[in-house]
Amino acid sequence: MDRKLTIIYFSPTDTTKKIVNAIAKGMGNNCVQTVNLTDPKARSLNYSFKKDEVIIVGVPVYGGRIPGFLTPALNNIKGEGTQAVFAAVYGNRAYEDALLELKNTFEENGFVGLAAGAFIGEHSNTEKVAGGRPDAQDIEAAEGFGREIAEKMKKKSISGITVKGDYPYKERKPAVPMAPDTSESCIQCGICAKYCPMEAISFSDAKITDPLKCIRCSSCVKRCPQKAKTFHHEAFNKITEWLIENYSKDRCEPEWFI
Ligand SMILES: Cc1cc2nc3c(=O)[nH]c(=O)nc-3n(C[C@H](O)[C@H](O)[C@H](O)COP(=O)(O)O)c2cc1C
Repeated sequence: MDRKLTIIYFSPTDTTKKIVNAIAKGMGNNCVQTVNLTDPKARSLNYSFKKDEVIIVGVPVYGGRIPGFLTPALNNIKGEGTQAVFAAVYGNRAYEDALLELKNTFEENGFVGLAAGAFIGEHSNTEKVAGGRPDAQDIEAAEGFGREIAEKMKKKSISGITVKGDYPYKERKPAVPMAPDTSESCIQCGICAKYCPMEAISFSDAKITDPLKCIRCSSCVKRCPQKAKTFHHEAFNKITEWLIENYSKDRCEPEWFI
């Protein structure tokens, strides 16, 4: 397939990034560009796509929805009847209305849904839930999904898609302000601040995080070479214990709609 393909994602801990790249590989495109919305600067720009282009857009599932703060950035992306592939990546609990919301957001902005899939990534809160995912089996599934999309694109008449999800969308719970603790082993390397998608961590002192900006994405926790970052907040611990108790045993599998 030689149509221009753009991969668009928000992915603080890289699981969504891995899935959208695997889908692109399966589609066999040799003309790929990337928009990484994890970078705050990329979220302030406008993007437009022509009818003969195709995009893959991937987001993690937060509370059964697409991350709320991301909606304005997604609304900066406009199509002209451009075909789009949607991917929601969730932490082995449930994706609820996220895929439907993602599809609707893009279809309202000039895109036509070509295919959509829900995939599984290690839970942001703990490696005890879906640890190490997407694994080799997940990547193979995502590539297979990409190959199916490439086949669909060869057809003369292309049908629309229906995805799982309900109306009204699941209600967003107000976020409890919190920030990770930083232990004495912090060496002020600045990796956490550089990768923080919300610019919540101070560049001059990595031990300082603005709890009102922090979204608990765990980018800093998972990237810290010293393992100096952890969330100790009571609300965080309660959710994490509940997740381990209920969602660490059974393995959810990817599913897609094409
Ligand atoms: C604030 C927050 C809310 C989350 N809500 C859900 C959820 O509703 N269902 C679920 O299965 N996983 C949930 N997760 C886990 C992420 O969807 C999952 O770990 C995903 O793979 C992270 O993507 P990333 O690696 O691209 O950052 C949540 C994570 C965070 C930080």
